[in-house]
Amino acid sequence: MSEELIFHVKPHIAASASVNAKSLALMNNHASLDPDPFWLEQARRLDWMRFPTIAGSGGFGGPGDETVEISWFADGTLNASVNCLDRHLASRGDETALIWQGEIEAQTARLSFHDLHDKVCRLANVLKAHGVGRGDRVATYLPMVVESVVAMLACARIGAVHVVMFAGFSPSGVASRIRDSAARLLITADEGRRGGKRIPLKTMADAALDELGDAAPPHVLVVSVTGAAVPMKQGRDHDFATLVEAAAPDCAPEEMGAEDPLLILYTSGSTGAPKGVLHTTGGYLLWASLTHEMVFDHRPGDVFWCTADLGWVTGHSYVVYGPLANGGTTLVFEGTPSFPSPGRWWQVIDKHAVNGFYTAPTAIRALMRDDPAVVDAARLDSLRVLGSVGEPINAEAWLWFYEKVGHARCPVIDSWWQTETGGMMIVPVPGAVAQKPGSATLPLPGVRAVLVDEKGQVLDGAAEGHLCIDGSWPGQARTLWGDHGRFVQTYFTTYPGLYFSGDGARRDADGYFWITGRVDDVINVSGHRIGSAEVESAFATHAAVSESAVIGVPDDLKGQSLAAFVVVRGGAAAAPQDLRGELAAHVGRQLGRYAAPDLVVLVSDLPKTRSGKVMRRILRKIATGEHEQLGDVSTLADPSVIDSLLESMAGVRNAGPTG
Ligand code: WT7
Repeated sequence: MSEELIFHVKPHIAASASVNAKSLALMNNHASLDPDPFWLEQARRLDWMRFPTIAGSGGFGGPGDETVEISWFADGTLNASVNCLDRHLASRGDETALIWQGEIEAQTARLSFHDLHDKVCRLANVLKAHGVGRGDRVATYLPMVVESVVAMLACARIGAVHVVMFAGFSPSGVASRIRDSAARLLITADEGRRGGKRIPLKTMADAALDELGDAAPPHVLVVSVTGAAVPMKQGRDHDFATLVEAAAPDCAPEEMGAEDPLLILYTSGSTGAPKGVLHTTGGYLLWASLTHEMVFDHRPGDVFWCTADLGWVTGHSYVVYGPLANGGTTLVFEGTPSFPSPGRWWQVIDKHAVNGFYTAPTAIRALMRDDPAVVDAARLDSLRVLGSVGEPINAEAWLWFYEKVGHARCPVIDSWWQTETGGMMIVPVPGAVAQKPGSATLPLPGVRAVLVDEKGQVLDGAAEGHLCIDGSWPGQARTLWGDHGRFVQTYFTTYPGLYFSGDGARRDADGYFWITGRVDDVINVSGHRIGSAEVESAFATHAAVSESAVIGVPDDLKGQSLAAFVVVRGGAAAAPQDLRGELAAHVGRQLGRYAAPDLVVLVSDLPKTRSGKVMRRILRKIATGEHEQLGDVSTLADPSVIDSLLESMAGVRNAGPTG
């Protein structure tokens, strides 16, 4: 697709948007010339108990200096739940803060700011009564229900740190996150609904708690979602609704320092187990709120729908904190795009008159495959801004989204960011920046995105390299929970003095960024970040496996899919017929179904260098059938491994991806 394809700023958006080309230029200037006053001015958008006098401090270290200290608004105090709820009570307390749309069409709830405030205060009191206080971690393992949002804000209210876990995680995944964060309390549900099926969450939570043994939190609150009868352990398990109803509806908010932790979110890296990305209160909230307003051109009364699960950072920043801090109405949808029938999402948009809609390329690509009459049947006339996040969006999907969903009337904003950045970083501000399909366009004010080459030289002008950020921004993660050394090592040592994103990118002559994807061993499957090391560790727990290597291969729908080359004990030739399927299922049970490889190849050996490093580049070529162009294989310890890999791969082509 040609880069010449450009969609200019819509005059009707520029005329009314809170940020237009002129004001964006002013912001950019102010942020770069005079950052501290600029950020203190931006801080006014939050409701502080004590307004800060200092903006950013600390730094990323540099060559020979590995001290990374990041701090924003350090002498300010505030409470995130007050910003999302209390401060709207006087002006719009009876307006809708949250619309919940159940998977079952007739199940809808509308909660005003008053209603949500009431629920949050009650749960906050319940948490306190169960021994949770400032700085304690509370884990949640919930489906897309109102209680999940209430839980996050109730933690914020009392200064507890929420650790939200995606309901698709396996019991082991849940156990490892609870163990690492040493959560004192778990909130889960009887069951979740997904595409007409039920997910036995309580049973899975129980398995996680068993695995934890003495490290299990002493209290578990159980939300009744489907009403299924689930075993309740005396003294440990409590019915959520019973406790909440009995609790007092007022709870004074804790006065938190801007740098006090608000949340931990586990995300995958290229090595080891998922790491607990920690965000603090002031900077994170400011970033979520500012970016939500600027990028979605948020206006009072707007209904905003971000389709992400609350278990990912997108759900945190753009289902909960951004829209609610801005006094908007956020929509929480329990269901899936095509259940009970194709077009469900479009019906939800029409039913609830959604203005801002934020989703992922993988979903757009799946919806494009529906009968065109499905999307054409919807009005979609409430929409004003469309957003995409999570992976590169191909031009075809961008154009379909723009024409079929936005009716060529709504700007499409492709937003690049990460769990670690807290909110959007490179993204077109719709009233100011022309869009090119496939490009995340320009960095937001105060974000100094740079490209560096292999040696760490910063590249000028049109160039391609590794994407780094030069200098901190308020939304940046401050550390990895319990392991600051790993934080420094992961993000700040590859290019000393710079934050390294792990992504590659190209910048065109207009300064627009085109993200090309991860350059480390992180694989992005349908917008879910999966570390190759994590999947390899899961394989290693199977008795038949001696070693494995996991790579990402291009996938039309998912962006990337997982392919695994597995060395089995006793040799590939002697392995039982169904072992490949069994191994894929094993990984699914270990990590969650989303991480089960689509392709498993049993091999007798992996291609390794003489120093024992697996040459993933070769595996990628073999998995994608490009073995004619393997490139330089002279560093292989044993070149004969290639023929045996090709033979195994040919066997797979005959038998099917997982046997
Ligand atoms: C990784 C971060 C950011 C919230 C959702 C994912 C990829 C994200 C884009 C985009 C190309 C993108 C990157 C990034 N990514 N947005 N617009 N274009 N790639 O958060 O799980 O922390 O994943 O997602 O590779 O590093 P995450």
